[in-house]
Amino acid sequence: VLCVLRGRKRRAGEPPLIKGWIPYVGKALEFGKDAHKFLEEHKKKYGDVFTVRIAGKYMTFITDPLMYPNIIKQGRQLDFHEFSDKVAPVTFGYPPVINGKYPGLSEQVKRSFNLLQGDKLTPLTESMMGNLMLVFRQDHLQEEGGWKIGNMFEFCFSIMFEATFLTMYGRPLSTRRHSGMDVLMDHFIKFDTMFPLLIAQIPIRLLGRTKAIREKLINYFLPNKMSCWSNTSQFIKRRSELFEQYDALRDVDKAAHHFAMLWASVGNTAPATFWAMYYLVSHPEALQVVRQELHDLLTLSGVDFSSDKDVMLSREQLEKLLYLESSINESLRLSSSSMNIRVAQEDFSLRLDAERSASVRKGDIIALYPQIMHLDPEIYEDPETFRFDRYMQDGTVKTEFYKDGQKLKYYLMPFGSGSTMCPGRHFALNEIKQFLCLLLLYFDLELEEGQTRATLDPSRAGLGVLLPNNDVHFRYRLRKV
Ligand code: HEM
Repeated sequence: VLCVLRGRKRRAGEPPLIKGWIPYVGKALEFGKDAHKFLEEHKKKYGDVFTVRIAGKYMTFITDPLMYPNIIKQGRQLDFHEFSDKVAPVTFGYPPVINGKYPGLSEQVKRSFNLLQGDKLTPLTESMMGNLMLVFRQDHLQEEGGWKIGNMFEFCFSIMFEATFLTMYGRPLSTRRHSGMDVLMDHFIKFDTMFPLLIAQIPIRLLGRTKAIREKLINYFLPNKMSCWSNTSQFIKRRSELFEQYDALRDVDKAAHHFAMLWASVGNTAPATFWAMYYLVSHPEALQVVRQELHDLLTLSGVDFSSDKDVMLSREQLEKLLYLESSINESLRLSSSSMNIRVAQEDFSLRLDAERSASVRKGDIIALYPQIMHLDPEIYEDPETFRFDRYMQDGTVKTEFYKDGQKLKYYLMPFGSGSTMCPGRHFALNEIKQFLCLLLLYFDLELEEGQTRATLDPSRAGLGVLLPNNDVHFRYRLRKV
């Protein structure tokens, strides 16, 4: 018992071991308070690779980005899904996928991710454009006249939430928009606030009304409701067909899977859109260049833009907006904090670089924490500053970033890495681009003066794009073109 309470001892070849003084909890409290600061301090003290006991688990952090390619390559001994398959079902309320009850489901779900990429990205992007235009037109482009004041996060969230929902799940047969979207959104935000606690495996019954709210969100996606929607994406249609093949899945289980996908598609995209908009609006010189790039593209494509007309930007056109893409990537660098987790499948020696390796034990967690790289002054000069053209060089995309004089293979990782990389990343980038294009084409934009800057709320550190601590007010009015 004493041995369990004290935890393990460091063996030869293993990285430095930091246990903390509270058995089981270990360093969880310090880590949870400010993960980035915690890791920076431990890196200074213990070097690039160290193991920390966090909530009963042993986590080995690899903090040197030059080692990332080696870690990402060793997929056979390091599994990602073992972790996500345990955590996601309890968070979103569906039964564990890997328990023999649903043979082949996990593989088929993975295969369905192809429907978010490649050729399939084109119809998805076109549909998103139409839906964004619809929401902008009906909610924001109607009235003429002077400046209006908005809350930026609320503005981004409500537009992206509804347009993404319509694009993925479709619309009612008889109308173009769903009624009750505001209630759904409100529930989503309440659930999202509890998301870090659910991921940390705090039982949902201890979290007040969260369970009831999650039930409401899940019920929205019951098969009898979804069958009344049209223009559903191929991706969601495929998932519904798949779930139908499993008698062991109840209707609420299928619905919970759909709800989980709603979270995956909006939970990070909405805050990422906010940060991109916030940084552009608070850097008018950047906004000016990006807006000019967009107008040049339209002129080149022979589009005669005016604010009473709808605009359509194709996937190919979006790809040409390099300053816009650099601005979005720069805002993701500053705001994303996703930890990449792998679980060791056996005791083995993890190769770190040409000379070094570290022994790890079966069940240990290997973690990459790219935020440390994103904010490393050796890689990114003046790392706290937003530079919209950081990923541009001589008018083309910049891909060369260095550490210790060596070129980095991975230098920007908001979407994870290797085989588990986010399958929605191309769609997400396109959506954010489309949103910003409409914003810059139709509106003059300014930050309201005399308010504090938006700062990052660290409470979901490690889990994706961070939320702002506070919303910001901005002014907008229809542009005269
Ligand atoms: C997984 C980030 C948007 C669908 C992930 C992961 C990250 C991530 C970090 C985990 C990857 C890993 O650990 O290696 C983001 C960010 C987004 C975004 C920052 C927006 C800015 C989207 C969108 C969709 C989506 C729009 C769908 C339409 C998914 C799915 C997974 C995933 C299905 C799980 C993949 C798996 O189980 O292998 N995302 N994501 N994401 N994302 Fe995204």
